[in-house]
Amino acid sequence: MNNAIEPIAAEVLSIFPVADGIYELELAAPKAAEQARPGQFAMLRPGAGGKPYLGRPMGIYDRDLMRGSISILFEVHGAGTRAMAGLHEGDKLDLLAPLGNGFTPAADLRRALVIGGGIGVAPLYPLLCQLKSQGVETEIMLGAQCGERMLALERLVRLGIPTRLYTDDGTMGKRGYLTEDLPEVLRYGRFEQVFCCGPMPMMRAVANICAEYRTPCQVSLEERMGCGFGICVCCVVDCQDAEGNISKKRVCYDGPVFDSQEVVWHA
Ligand SMILES: Cc1cc2nc3c(=O)[nH]c(=O)nc-3n(C[C@H](O)[C@H](O)[C@H](O)COP(=O)(O)OP(=O)(O)OC[C@H]3O[C@@H](n4cnc5c(N)ncnc54)[C@H](O)[C@@H]3O)c2cc1C
Ligand code: FES
Repeated sequence: MNNAIEPIAAEVLSIFPVADGIYELELAAPKAAEQARPGQFAMLRPGAGGKPYLGRPMGIYDRDLMRGSISILFEVHGAGTRAMAGLHEGDKLDLLAPLGNGFTPAADLRRALVIGGGIGVAPLYPLLCQLKSQGVETEIMLGAQCGERMLALERLVRLGIPTRLYTDDGTMGKRGYLTEDLPEVLRYGRFEQVFCCGPMPMMRAVANICAEYRTPCQVSLEERMGCGFGICVCCVVDCQDAEGNISKKRVCYDGPVFDSQEVVWHA
């Protein structure tokens, strides 16, 4: 969590498509690059004339300390992301970052499993870099609709971390959902912690399987946001403590990363 983060007018250093409707955007943001921890996010407000009025939350995908930049990997859905896709080098947009808590690997972690679905790989890449630099033995399971939408592969290959790939249509890796293999992977993998980001149904399934195999799991949740820093309370999710008491937590401020057992997974 962060105090006193100032919005800045961040310059677009580069923007290019990486797949149909998916872009990588690099922004000049030296302070955010310095401060960002794996799993934190940014609020971006790209529109001219004050529209869209609210920022759009995006995981911080990469950072370059030499260039003083952060990168975002985003998929076009509606007005906000369409405006982002229309940005050009040299344009400026309002940026608030870094926000949220980020992932917290255990201090003595030796073996980790990182699970990503679709664009959910974005906030996991900095985590993978951290785990690698700390000498944590890590494996990756990555799922996507098809091979063309399997993102971040070049970066993952450079990291050299063993990776299992799954696609819905079988155009890359194994056909089917990665959750079909997860019980087997957890049974034999001796993983001490799992980190996951992807579509809600995937994260719910991962959370259930991890609970069955008694493996601690952190998930990065996505909710619609207004302010991004805890004031407007529009991003709340139901959480429960060990006694089953339910409370509301703000994804932007208390998360976006939660212990998967803490989340009340609505069907
Ligand atoms: C912490 C966090 C990190 C995120 N990281 C990324 C990222 O790295 N890359 C990326 O592409 N997207 C990310 N998202 C989702 C992204 O914020 C939404 O896709 C975006 O706000 C949609 O804005 P829009 O104006 O284009 O769409 P809108 O016009 O606002 O909505 C279009 C569609 O997108 C859905 N949508 C809108 N907001 C969200 C949301 N917050 N979560 C899920 N679905 C939403 C709506 O239900 C609707 O169907 C993240 C969300 C959160 C909360
Ligand atoms: S977005 Fe305003 S409290 Fe979370």
